[in-house]
Amino acid sequence: MQYKFMAERMENIHSDIRGPVFFRALEMEAQGEKVLKLNTGNPATFGFKMPKSIKEVIIKDVEKSLGYCGLRGMKTAQEAIVEYETSKGIQGLTVDDVFITNGVSEAASMLTTALVGVGDEVLMPSPCYSLWSNSVLASGGVPVYYDCNEEENWSPDIDDIKAKITKKTKAIVIINPNNPTGVLYPNSVLLEIAEIARQNDIVVFSDEIYDRLVFDGKVHTSFAKLAPDLTVVTLNGLSKSHCVCGLRCGWICLSGNTEKAKELNKALVAIASVRLCSNALMQLIIPTALKDTEYTKQMLCETGRLYLQRKACVEAINEIDGLSVVPNDGAFYIFPKIDTERFNVTDDKAFARGLLEAKKILIVAGTGFGYKTPDHFRVVMLPEHQTLRQAMYDIGDYLQTLKK
Ligand SMILES: Cc1ncc(COP(=O)(O)O)c(C=O)c1O
Repeated sequence: MQYKFMAERMENIHSDIRGPVFFRALEMEAQGEKVLKLNTGNPATFGFKMPKSIKEVIIKDVEKSLGYCGLRGMKTAQEAIVEYETSKGIQGLTVDDVFITNGVSEAASMLTTALVGVGDEVLMPSPCYSLWSNSVLASGGVPVYYDCNEEENWSPDIDDIKAKITKKTKAIVIINPNNPTGVLYPNSVLLEIAEIARQNDIVVFSDEIYDRLVFDGKVHTSFAKLAPDLTVVTLNGLSKSHCVCGLRCGWICLSGNTEKAKELNKALVAIASVRLCSNALMQLIIPTALKDTEYTKQMLCETGRLYLQRKACVEAINEIDGLSVVPNDGAFYIFPKIDTERFNVTDDKAFARGLLEAKKILIVAGTGFGYKTPDHFRVVMLPEHQTLRQAMYDIGDYLQTLKK
């Protein structure tokens, strides 16, 4: 018998954010070329500095992080998370409902390991940040995409969600604000999703990692606030709001006080204990970070970097013949559409590859987010606004070479 040194389920696991076009960009860099990498939402690589408040804690308290801590996390950090999520309207939380993880990435993988069995289905948006499809696949489950309608501000299509529920549906994922579209869902949509979850007895995974990164005075509502009777898993972390992706700081918050939540809690305890604990150094900063709301606000106000970058990016895209876009409400992303009637783009990955070779700009093709048609791409809007504006013009120039 011949061994395969890869489990069968690995065949579908991949991330286009760090896929073949990304590796080609690395090759070009190794050959001395300068590539503008707009593929990853990683603020530190674009000069965003960590908040001073956090730096001080790390320097002062590093010695406190040398031992393993509790499997759910350090008590002081858990308490700070309970306080934060309670302030967002989630009811009945205690420290035992909180699991601190090495980023939301580990949280997603722990959750799907805990809940999703072979053949179980998990509903998720199309387009969707690929962490969710990959975590489900790695657990032996099946990602099932529900449509989000671009014409309706990328809002989840409620009828499509209903149509895709089967006996095997275990959970529904929402990402709000969304990656890759950057939009914030209105409460009315969240309430409709809650009703579907209620009627079909399914768990909701609400990825809220961008909840503090919302523009224009809009307000994020936690899904769990609107559905206190349901089993809701809220996921959040500090990677984005405090520009510390490398510290790997995330958490899971279980709410609903249901039998399902208790069972899931037990399964998570088992998984968390296998990996002993999550990085303790980053847990030290959680109480300080969650109090430092000013840092994030400064990036979003009208003179802040994120605000100016979004403005430049959306304005430039709107000037380009062949591109259109729904402006984002939050996060760092935008998901422009290519007019494929007038431009010869039939394969979005080939478009990304061609752009990289021609203009030294790395973007991610829309199909890399499970999007159904090859006519979108995601831009990470983290470079300074002048650079970003020019990059959009360069994308526009490249697109013109493909005019029919
Ligand atoms: C929607 C979403 N969820 C989770 C993550 C993972 O974040 P973390 O750094 O906490 O693992 C990201 C990172 O880009 C994301 O966009």
